[in-house]
Amino acid sequence: MCGIVGYIGQGPSSPVLVEGLSKLAYRGYDSSGIAFLDNGSITVQKAAGKLEKLTERLIIGGDEGIGIGHTRWATHGPATTENAHPHLSQHKQIVIVHNGIIENHLALKNELSWFGYDTYLSETDSEVVAHLIEHFYRSSHDLLEALHQAVEKMEGSYAIAALAADRPQEIVAVRKNSPLIIGLGEGENFLASDVPAILSRTRRVMYLNDDEYARLGREKVEIFARDLSPIDREVCQIDWDIKTAEKGGYDTFTLKEIHEQPRAIRETISHRIKQGRLSLELELLESMAPSLQRITIVACGTAYHAGLIGKTVIEELVGLPVQVEIASEFWSVARFLTPADLVIAVSQSGETIDTLQAIRLARRAGAKVLSILNVVGSTLARESDAVLYTWAGPEIGVASTKAYTTQLAAFFMLALSLSGSGQEAELLELADQVDQALATEETIRRIAREQAANEKIMFLGRGVDYYTALEASLKLKEISYINCLAMPAGELKHGTIALVEPGTWVVAFLTQSQTYDKMVSNLKEVRARGAKVLAITCLSGDSLADAADEIIHLPKTLEHYAPMVSIIPAQLLAYYIATERGLDVDQPRNLAKSVTVE
Ligand code: AGP
Repeated sequence: MCGIVGYIGQGPSSPVLVEGLSKLAYRGYDSSGIAFLDNGSITVQKAAGKLEKLTERLIIGGDEGIGIGHTRWATHGPATTENAHPHLSQHKQIVIVHNGIIENHLALKNELSWFGYDTYLSETDSEVVAHLIEHFYRSSHDLLEALHQAVEKMEGSYAIAALAADRPQEIVAVRKNSPLIIGLGEGENFLASDVPAILSRTRRVMYLNDDEYARLGREKVEIFARDLSPIDREVCQIDWDIKTAEKGGYDTFTLKEIHEQPRAIRETISHRIKQGRLSLELELLESMAPSLQRITIVACGTAYHAGLIGKTVIEELVGLPVQVEIASEFWSVARFLTPADLVIAVSQSGETIDTLQAIRLARRAGAKVLSILNVVGSTLARESDAVLYTWAGPEIGVASTKAYTTQLAAFFMLALSLSGSGQEAELLELADQVDQALATEETIRRIAREQAANEKIMFLGRGVDYYTALEASLKLKEISYINCLAMPAGELKHGTIALVEPGTWVVAFLTQSQTYDKMVSNLKEVRARGAKVLAITCLSGDSLADAADEIIHLPKTLEHYAPMVSIIPAQLLAYYIATERGLDVDQPRNLAKSVTVE
């Protein structure tokens, strides 16, 4: 959570910082701010609310071509201007931006009070970092050394960038469990939480690892290890286009990303099929496959739902038991892992701290980690034994859509690869079938208009359709703020059916012939109690007509591939209900795209 930018170069830094922040707003957007050097003193400008609140009052001038900026997702203290970053130190010599949580901030405040540091203007855990660096800087006059001494005292997670009022020649930075990248220019250099922030300026990037420090000057960038010994770091060339991180004519990133799914799925799959045969080129999988006894999948949110569907398809095609764990709960199962275990981590960003901590536990137990990731060069990529990339391209909308369907594609490929079941042709058809599912858009839009005010919405399914119901419900919750729920249809009668009353709207998924008749019966039960039913199905069966008020028909796929198609109308439904309600779909309240706090 939170986005950091830094710039050192020629001319005013504030336009560069604001442009960078606008590309990082997906990481947090409840307040923002910048700081730059201005004739030996530090100028800080910040505002509560979205970035526009900052830009509409931004004063540009006196800037020495060095500055840092921040877009916030509040952890300690509400989204006010005071709590927004950057934070100045007590004597205004140091300014910092911070992403993460300083867990021992109260103890540090206490310690610093002995040295006269007793003035805090915010409720954040971050402000103490500025005071701490200043405390050390006053004796050493070495900014990197002062940051290092401060970090030695900190507990928690952090990406920090700092400036000193009397050092216009450098920005210093450090990271632990929060991402930081460095962009290399000509006579200028950049710092950011993620690549899109710098992509319009440079494609040459260096990645900082945990516990590493960076010192950025105009002509050179230096990287240091935990003990401040210098490190050589390779320069990577970013090959994706900034346009893929723009709206391209759509009203929102989310709608654009929903429509990009056929392309994203096609690219994820087709590159791996050569002469009709799937080839993942994953040595780890090939070496472990013969003796594999079980697989554990770990992920959060939407990626967790992809994992549930991955479990079903692997169990069905490969016959191996698979368990799926929510990453933040993984600590309780990690102790049962052994070196014979394969753990599959799933993540769009590759920066989700819960998932990262989970794979660290897994690797400590000797298990091997294969990650399904979208972001190349992310922390998870670097800490995994092997990576299977999805080719979704940058996903900016907070609600995950194309990342989800490409994660399903990755699981389908893994299951095929492990089972050798030869269903490549059907796999290749999926992108077109998703395209056909998108043709339901106008119908869904009409239904969304009719249901937008409904506060009683329930998603039902059985087996894999229940997992789709979970994902559909999460999509609706996060962008429409409707307190909906997802249930296994057979479980309803054990309690939750008490909630059903006239006006309740039930959205049901029926893609599996084995559970079709039972689903139809469950839908009749809710209709008998006054619910209205929308059925989403890939199957043809007469009995459904009596059990649903409206039916969305989708193309028929192999049944274990159906979740990729059946989620499409649900994504559109969540999207259009949210827009009918006049909500900000790309940046829903309280959320951030990349969740880097535990
Ligand atoms: C989904 O719409 C959410 N934005 C969220 O649940 C997300 O999938 C989760 O936080 C995991 O993120 P990751 O894929 O980047 O690890």
